[in-house]
Amino acid sequence: MNALHKDLVRLTAAAERQAVKGGPWRPGLHLAPPTGWLNDPNGLCRFRDEYHVFYQYAPFDANGGVKFWGHCKSRDLLSWERCPVMLYSDEPYDVHGAYSGSALCGEDGLYLYYTGNVKHGGDYDYVLEGRENNTAVAYSPDGVRLGWKRLLMGPKDYPGGLTRHVRDPKVWKQDGVYYMVLGARTVEDAGAALIFESKDKFQWKHINTLCTSAAFGYMWECPDLFEMDGQWFLAVSPQGVPEKGPGFENVYASGYFPIFGDFRGDCRLGEFVPFDFGFDFYAPQTFPDGSRRLLIGWMGMPDAEYSNPTAAQGWQHCLTVPRVLERRRNRLVMNPVPELEGLREESREYDFEGEKTIDLPLLSDIAIICEGDLSLDLSGVSLRTGNGALTLTVREGGWGRGSRTAPVRELRNLRILADTSALEFFANDGEAVLSVRWYPESEGRTLALKGRGKAAVHKLRPMQIKEYSPE
Ligand code: FRU
Repeated sequence: MNALHKDLVRLTAAAERQAVKGGPWRPGLHLAPPTGWLNDPNGLCRFRDEYHVFYQYAPFDANGGVKFWGHCKSRDLLSWERCPVMLYSDEPYDVHGAYSGSALCGEDGLYLYYTGNVKHGGDYDYVLEGRENNTAVAYSPDGVRLGWKRLLMGPKDYPGGLTRHVRDPKVWKQDGVYYMVLGARTVEDAGAALIFESKDKFQWKHINTLCTSAAFGYMWECPDLFEMDGQWFLAVSPQGVPEKGPGFENVYASGYFPIFGDFRGDCRLGEFVPFDFGFDFYAPQTFPDGSRRLLIGWMGMPDAEYSNPTAAQGWQHCLTVPRVLERRRNRLVMNPVPELEGLREESREYDFEGEKTIDLPLLSDIAIICEGDLSLDLSGVSLRTGNGALTLTVREGGWGRGSRTAPVRELRNLRILADTSALEFFANDGEAVLSVRWYPESEGRTLALKGRGKAAVHKLRPMQIKEYSPE
C-alpha cells in the first residue's frame, strides 16, 4: 500500500462520513453513490454466489473528479452491502483515474480489467497526444479486498491509426481463450472496437478491429461483446453520431450492432439499435448470470444540457435497476429482473376508461395494459401515444429535460418503476425502454391516466443497503 493509496482511503472515508444522508431524492430502488459523483457501472459479475456491482466513483466532488471504483455486492439484488472502494488511482499508470472496465471470475479470485487514465500537463489536444490510456488488471482473492494490480498495455501496445482514446476493456473467456474488446477513436475520427486475445489473461494480442464502413460517431465508449441464442452483438456507447430521431436525441447514444460472421475474423456489423429512448441512460454493461444475461446502465448522461439538483446536496447520479436482456430476432429487449417483485408490499388494481387519477406510493411498480391510445402523467412526467411514437415529456422538475420519443406504433402494455427521482418505463414487454431522472418538489405522487385499460399498482419497500462488515 503506497502513501497515496493510504491518503485516498482516509480522504474517502472522511468524505463519506461528512456526506449529507437522506433527502427527498435519494433513491430507494437504484444504487447511488454514498457521496459525490457516480458514472458507469463497472466489473459487473456474479462471483461465488454474490452479485458485484462496481461503479465509477468520484467521492470528493458531486460534479466529477478523479475516478475510483466504488463497490456494492448482494446475494439477491435486493439487499446490498456497500463495500470499500476497490480501485483507487494511486499508481503511475492510473493516477488520473481508474476508468471503466469489467470483471473476469477466476477459480482463484476476481480479475478486474480497467483503464488507467493519465493526463500529462502541457499544451496538448488530449486526443492525439498528452494522455495515456493504459490497460491494467487488478486481482482480488475474495471480491472485496484488493490483492494487487498491474499494468498490461499502454499506447505503444495498441494497433496503429488510433488516437489516445482507447479504453474500457471488457474481458471474457470462451473456448479456453480470453478475449478483450476495447473502445477506440481512430485518427480519422471514427469509432472502433479492438479485439484482443490471450491464453493467460496477461499477454494480449490484437487480432481484429470492428467498425462500420462509414464512421458511426468519432468514439465508441464502453464496448461489450456477447452472444444471445447463437447471435453475437457488439454494444457500444458512441459519441458524435450524425443520426437524428428516436434513440439519438441525447448528446451521446448507446446501443448495439448485431454481428454477422465471427468477431475474431471476417464479420460485418448490422444496423445499430439504441438501447434506451429516455434522457438518462449511458455506458451499460452486461454479464452472464446462469442462464440469463443481465444489464445495468448508468442512469445519467455525460455533457448533457440538463442537470440534477442533487449535486447541490453533495451527490449525483445512480445506476439503472438490473434488467434481464432477451433476444427477439435480431433485437434485444430488456425488463427489470423478476427479483424486484420481492420488494412488493401491497397491490391495488384499477380499471380505467376515460380519465382516472390514482394516488401512488412514493416507490411503486406499475403495470398497465391498454387498449388504444393512452396518455398518462406521473407527478410531472407525461407519456403519450400517437403519431407512431411514444412521447415522454418532463413537464415539471426536469431541470432542463424536455421531450424524447420512442418508436412504439401501438402500445399494448407498460411497466413503470417509479423511484423518488428516477423513472424507468418498459413498453410492450421491454421492446422500448425510457429512463429518466426528475425531481418533484413534493413527496406525494399521483398517476393521471387517460384511455382504456387496467392498471396494477404495487407499493414497494426500498432496497436494503448496509455497510460491509467482514464475516
Ligand atoms: C463513459 C466514460 C468511459 C470512461 C469513464 C470515465 O462514461 O467516459 O469511457 O472509462 O467514463 O469515468
